[in-house]
Amino acid sequence: MEAHPHHAHDHDHAHEHAHGGESRLADMLDLDAELLGTYLDELTAWVAEQAAGTPRTVADLGAGTGTGTLALARRFPAATIVAVDRSPVMLDRVRAAAVGRGLGERVRAVQGDLDLALPPVGPVDLVWAAASLHHVEEPARLLREVHAALNPGGLLAVVEMDGLPRFLPDEAGAALEVRCREAVTRARTGPDAYPEWTPPLTAAGFEVTARRDFPIEVAARRDFPIEVGPSSPSGVRGVARYAHAVFSGYRSRLDGHLAAADLAALDRLLSEDHPEALRHRDLVLRSTRTAWAARRA
Ligand SMILES: C[S@@+](CC[C@H](N)C(=O)[O-])C[C@H]1O[C@@H](n2cnc3c(N)ncnc32)[C@H](O)[C@@H]1O
Repeated sequence: MEAHPHHAHDHDHAHEHAHGGESRLADMLDLDAELLGTYLDELTAWVAEQAAGTPRTVADLGAGTGTGTLALARRFPAATIVAVDRSPVMLDRVRAAAVGRGLGERVRAVQGDLDLALPPVGPVDLVWAAASLHHVEEPARLLREVHAALNPGGLLAVVEMDGLPRFLPDEAGAALEVRCREAVTRARTGPDAYPEWTPPLTAAGFEVTARRDFPIEVAARRDFPIEVGPSSPSGVRGVARYAHAVFSGYRSRLDGHLAAADLAALDRLLSEDHPEALRHRDLVLRSTRTAWAARRA
């Protein structure tokens, strides 16, 4: 029998596909950062208050495209930031973003799988893990390793987001979003739920010194001129793009998990010309991030 000529190609294709998914996630993370920059400054200011002294070495675990890495580099101008991720696609973006902002000297990108072990980043003064700790298979083990890598008095900041952001301010739209978010949870196709981190942090030897919710709201009225949106230079267009990405995700992943009427409503939101389309509506981007500050005694 003839050797199958497509194996190598299939493999490449699968590889490309996986990287395509990572690139899409990377785009989404960048969009999130672009629209929610103000909240990040507030959050890093809070972390600076919680940290004892000025951190010199910082690790960003599950750094993604480097949103946190760059925000930390801005907040702590004397610090070196080690960005850890298992994805080379993400780390390439971190490097490019750091160099683009003149921070190449202070940012180091390290590939490592946190499911296996914390790569050698220590000793560090501050560890930041945003929307990443809940991905790790054995968080208790990782938290012990982070505790050991921190200098005495060092701080771990854990940040999580309450699922995908919401966009529709009207009652019917908000109810549709609730159903989509519940379906995502049932189908387990979206960002996983995170636990209350205080008990595992305490069990790993940390003292949880503060826990705070950061509610985020970015209003984008469709009749605002696109280039002068209310909260960021990208304004309306950015919020509508983010909404489009989130609702397309619901549409493609929730077939079979939502009622036909809800799937049809998603189609109308995503359409180009329907009066209910996202592009013709006022949107309000809403999300809540929760942060824990945990100190090594
Ligand atoms: C939702 S993203 C968050 C990125 C970034 N911290 C932010 O707030 O924008 C989660 C990141 O964690 C990374 N990640 C997930 N599991 C990981 C693991 N076991 N080891 C290393 N990185 C991991 C993913 O590659 C992804 O970049």
